[in-house]
Amino acid sequence: MTRLRKVVFPVAGLGTRFLPATKVVAKEMLPVIDRPLIQYAVDEAIDAGADTLVFVTNRYKHSIADYFDSAYELEETLEHAGKLELLAMVQGLLPKHVRCVYVTQEQALGLGHAVLCTKAVIGDEPFGIILPDDLIVNDGGPSALRQMAQRASDGRTGVLAVEEVPHADTGKYGIVDVEAGGDRIRHMVEKPKPEDAPSNLAVVGRYVLPARIFELLEKTTPGAGGEIQLTDAIAALLGESRVLAHRFDGHRFDCGSKAGMVRATLHFAARDPALADLVRGFNKAG
Ligand code: G1P
Repeated sequence: MTRLRKVVFPVAGLGTRFLPATKVVAKEMLPVIDRPLIQYAVDEAIDAGADTLVFVTNRYKHSIADYFDSAYELEETLEHAGKLELLAMVQGLLPKHVRCVYVTQEQALGLGHAVLCTKAVIGDEPFGIILPDDLIVNDGGPSALRQMAQRASDGRTGVLAVEEVPHADTGKYGIVDVEAGGDRIRHMVEKPKPEDAPSNLAVVGRYVLPARIFELLEKTTPGAGGEIQLTDAIAALLGESRVLAHRFDGHRFDCGSKAGMVRATLHFAARDPALADLVRGFNKAG
């Protein structure tokens, strides 16, 4: 298994689908019940072995750094009130061996550009990327990123999480073309129209990549939507390295959409003893 010491979280996006809330709340801070999306993403990175979390942010996303910082007044208040369980919870958002690095993306030039901003921090080792909008749960089993790290055994192999999507939706994703009978990716294209898509196998927000991707990103010109696309740099990597499509064990919630947020909320509520009856009653009423 490749030890993924460093995991990148591109969190500089606008979150227009959740306006007006995202006028002031970073979309990654929107909660599924009581935990913000970014917490689920970070827990997954740590499960995969990460000790360095690299957030690509901008001036509107200070709340993410605040969230992982210690909150002295809150902690003292909780301690004085004897609310020790809550105190342990807010102090334990990250294990002690994990550190956070914040990198600024000054211009919104695309996902590929956001990842390129982390070049100096990542250095020369394989790394992971998690898009917190895609919340993936694998109840009781290894997280999706951990599964992927297990497959990237030699430090040079790339691994992308994929799942089948309706053909009509190919224009929302990076779409891969996989060799017959295997899972090595032959070709990859960003947001193709259904009639141009090589398949309906979509990349969802998890990547394990070698550091070579940074040199390829430096050469990548604007692609779909006029943005510097990570997909285009990975397409260039395919010519020189093995990149595997990983059909993960688990379930993905597209928390970049309202329907996905509602589904994720119902999923976690159904597993919470204090809320499960409510969900059951609600389903019956519906
Ligand atoms: C990004 C990637 C795309 C990928 C998707 C997964 O698109 O560019 O290849 O399939 O994330 O969620 P975005 O959703 O940021 O437009």
